[in-house]
Amino acid sequence: MKNVFVSSHPLVADLLTILRDKQTGIREFRSTAEQISSLLITDASGDLSLSTKAIETPLTKMHAPVLSENIVLFTILRAGLAMLHPAMKLFPSAEVGFAGLRRNEQTAIAEEYYWKMPTITKNSLVFLLDPMLATGGSALCVLRKIKQAKEIRLVTIISAPEGITAIHSAFPNVRIYTGAVDQKLNARKYIVPGLGDFGDLYFGT
Ligand code: PRP
Ligand code: URA
Repeated sequence: MKNVFVSSHPLVADLLTILRDKQTGIREFRSTAEQISSLLITDASGDLSLSTKAIETPLTKMHAPVLSENIVLFTILRAGLAMLHPAMKLFPSAEVGFAGLRRNEQTAIAEEYYWKMPTITKNSLVFLLDPMLATGGSALCVLRKIKQAKEIRLVTIISAPEGITAIHSAFPNVRIYTGAVDQKLNARKYIVPGLGDFGDLYFGT
């Protein structure tokens, strides 16, 4: 699948099994979600551009590499918060945006309840963070409002084929970095095999 990058890292596979297992308690679910997010965001940033700056080591002068991208993190509440802290550790200077979106339990259509936009320009590389890509409705709500960015990369822990198709029908250039592409959505638009409701499991609700 073009512009879909499924992690092949064995640690990601192992951590994902912990998240999927219904025996996993909240404490382990939280720490595992943060570990896997860190690996996936590292994967998604493996080809970022570098420039150089002049520095002096204790021994000599040199031109050393520095990240030259204007990184913006954008997270979808609530579940995306699980990925935000690992992302902020990797990109400590990045501006952060928030979309409060909740799927209507009957229709599975995302409804907006909060929005806080960071500065996004034609130089911004945005990492859009949301652990579950199901119908794609939530991510599409955000993508439509940040399309002025130079590039947007969607980072998810699990994706459904339906969600990937929905994103790429509207935004074919958005790269999707994910821990797994699962089989399908069920009648209630939950990902199968999936892991259940990520927000509820992470926040204990
Ligand atoms: C979950 C998840 C995604 C969304 C994905 O959020 O965090 O944002 O569903 O589904 P979609 O691709 O069909 O839009 P949910 O609405 O359950 O809210 P929560 O994060 O507050 O639990
Ligand atoms: N959101 C979740 O948390 N889980 C799903 O399976 C689908 C949407």
